Amino acid sequence: MKIGFIGYGNMAESLASRWVSKHEVFIGGRDAEKAKRLAAKLGQNARSGSEGDAAGFGEIIVLATTHEAAFDAMVAAGGPAAFAGKVLLDINNPVDVKQGNFIPKTYDGTSLAEAIAVRAPGARVVKAFNMCQAMVWKMDPPLFDGRKLVTLYCGDDAEAKRILATLIQDIGCDPLDLGELKYARLLEPAAAIVIKLLLSGRDPHTVLNLIQPEVKPIS
Ligand SMILES: NC(=O)c1ccc[n+]([C@@H]2O[C@H](COP(=O)([O-])OP(=O)(O)OC[C@H]3O[C@@H](n4cnc5c(N)ncnc54)[C@H](OP(=O)(O)O)[C@@H]3O)[C@@H](O)[C@H]2O)c1
Repeated sequence: MKIGFIGYGNMAESLASRWVSKHEVFIGGRDAEKAKRLAAKLGQNARSGSEGDAAGFGEIIVLATTHEAAFDAMVAAGGPAAFAGKVLLDINNPVDVKQGNFIPKTYDGTSLAEAIAVRAPGARVVKAFNMCQAMVWKMDPPLFDGRKLVTLYCGDDAEAKRILATLIQDIGCDPLDLGELKYARLLEPAAAIVIKLLLSGRDPHTVLNLIQPEVKPIS
């Protein structure tokens, strides 16, 4: 698949580094040099350019700027038309860590993911990967006590969610469908718990551990 990243920070690097062996990756952002640097680090399956180039390239577009910059980055990428028909993956947490207030921002009582969908009405918005620190997504694979990480995701479009589930499996995690995009209202505060724990000194590999039920043989 063709995956375009808008942003070249920690999350873009982690996720792209895990997908680049299997998919075509494009790193886009406001600073062409920074985008190029990350693409070069990722190797020959990665290219780079502007936000608009990334959106034009991707069948899946990952919004990987800071959460504060997400809407501006969408405008810079070309606005709603740039995302029409595409899978738009929101990985962001609307938590203002610099202010030390871990209560996530809401958007008229809804989530950031839903606010993104309002600004890109033709896009198939999905949310995932917001629940763990970037270095967890870089683990190859993310195993804890030898067990796979369960990765929650949500969205309204069934085909977009199938694509996302495959991308989750590609990094060695177990996808778990939480439901429609409105369930991002649960994913965002859940991640805020992890962020609060991290910033109070817990190991960056801290996760909310959703344990797979034991599979018992049918008697
Ligand atoms: N880091 C984590 O562990 C983690 C985990 C889960 C989810 N997330 C979420 O993932 C998102 C990205 O996090 P990150 O850690 O990858 O961030 P980061 O390393 O700080 O990178 C931020 C990216 O946003 C860009 N950016 C910042 N302000 C911008 C603006 N006004 N216009 C356009 N681009 C702008 C930066 O470009 P410049 O360098 O040019 O400023 C950079 O590409 C955040 O929303 C965060 O909540 C992060």
